[in-house]
Amino acid sequence: MQSTRQDSEPGLHVAIVMDGNGRWATARGLPRRRGHEAGARAVRGIVETAPTLGIGLLTLYAFSADNWKRPPREVGALLALFRRYLDGECERLRANGVRLSIIGRRDRLPPSLLAAVERAELDTARGAELHLRIAIDYSGRDAIIAAAARARLIDSEMTREGFATLVAAAQHGGDARDVDLLIRTGGERRLSDFMLWEAAYAELSFTTRAWPDFTGAMLAAAVEDFRGRNRRFGALPDVAVAG
Ligand code: FPP
Repeated sequence: MQSTRQDSEPGLHVAIVMDGNGRWATARGLPRRRGHEAGARAVRGIVETAPTLGIGLLTLYAFSADNWKRPPREVGALLALFRRYLDGECERLRANGVRLSIIGRRDRLPPSLLAAVERAELDTARGAELHLRIAIDYSGRDAIIAAAARARLIDSEMTREGFATLVAAAQHGGDARDVDLLIRTGGERRLSDFMLWEAAYAELSFTTRAWPDFTGAMLAAAVEDFRGRNRRFGALPDVAVAG
């Protein structure tokens, strides 16, 4: 078996670590929260470009389980920004056929944000052009631990598909489909606890561009580069098999 891909949505699964908001703001003499606001504005262009590139599932990393360690002011600004995004963008997402869902823990979110999440998920539930997943209070490790606990520390008969279902359940995300292309902006080259199960065979793409400056054209360039790569999933290239 080569992957756990479940094909619940047609098209590519692209996942993005939206990094560099803080440095973007600092470089302009602005408070960090202004970088996050600029980051939220950048999300629209990416979401609207994604379906034109054959992306069916787009997973954006907005807040990790470790981001609670940031100063309370920044955490508060981020959570308020997510709520404004959900309330303010929902109608446009629905009009564009985007289904929105949130992955990650929900039990630590403020009630007003949780209510906005549930409203947005309900209002956009019929979207068929793109499934947009925003990861909030997300940890790939925690999802795997929760899945392992449910599997009673792994029934030896458990298949990858079976385990992937448990990972999906642990992150409220509907499925744990493999990531095809994982992009990180902002110059760092690490996963930061994102999609640890799903990125097993992801192609990786790093850019020094800060997230607020990441455009649809840059996403298109990353997807074009991805399409030129030879994905083997651990097997041999076709030419070697033929020979
Ligand atoms: C990392 O940049 C970014 C975050 C922790 C927050 C991501 C949030 C957004 C892009 C805005 C809102 C998103 C949505 C979906 C509405 P950083 O703060 O670590 O930047 P730095 O590395 O330059 O300090």
